[in-house]
Amino acid sequence: MRLLTTFLLIALAAGLSGCGPGAGKDTPPLWIIPDMKIQEKYKPQQESPLFADRSASRRPVAGTIAREGFVQDEGYHLGHSGGQYVGKNPLELNQKTLLQGQKQFNIYCAPCHDRTASGGGIVGKRAGAVFQPANLHKQETRDKNDGELYSIASDGRRTMMGYRNQVSDADRWAIIGYLRVLQRAGGAKIEDVPENLRAEVR
Ligand code: HEC
Repeated sequence: MRLLTTFLLIALAAGLSGCGPGAGKDTPPLWIIPDMKIQEKYKPQQESPLFADRSASRRPVAGTIAREGFVQDEGYHLGHSGGQYVGKNPLELNQKTLLQGQKQFNIYCAPCHDRTASGGGIVGKRAGAVFQPANLHKQETRDKNDGELYSIASDGRRTMMGYRNQVSDADRWAIIGYLRVLQRAGGAKIEDVPENLRAEVR
């Protein structure tokens, strides 16, 4: 009898806590306290009797701009303005911005282009011939101005997708600053290294 009561108590506890037979299946588990899982709210495209057009989704008030949609400087935001690429990186390139660029490059670009930007990242190795990240040390890429590289990082090119929505404007410019560092280092000669440090270069 005692054993049976204990068993029933455990079964009840398991059932109430949501890990009963219904959990993970089509029938939702029993919620004693639903917390905030169930709330009165409208979801996109739903109907509402509150408005004349019966749509719960409302248009922004005429003449207003969402804060994140405000573009003060088109060239800074897009990398081009009036049909011309921005020539030079508008960020002040110093140790702080370049370290930020390095961090962001290693997160967002290196999986494909690798940390040295030679295009040998893990994604290309797995994807095979259909999707080959470019080697960013090519003369053709070096010759592109900062605005064009920024615009590729933002909106993509051919098979590469853009990273405008993942990486902020300032961070994309920082990435381009750091990409220039990699390109400069990639084509460097031993004469570019100060004499007292040459022994340390492998
Ligand atoms: C998911 C993989 C992937 C990621 C991540 C990625 N790229 Fe690319 N990238 C590519 C591929 C593939 C190409 C070649 C596109 C083509 O020619 O079809 C390319 C091409 C480029 C080019 C053009 C080179 C040229 O001169 O034609 C630039 C510049 C570039 N990437 C920069 C970046 C930067 C900066 C980042 C990080 C913000 C980045 N990429 C992230 C896959 C990637």
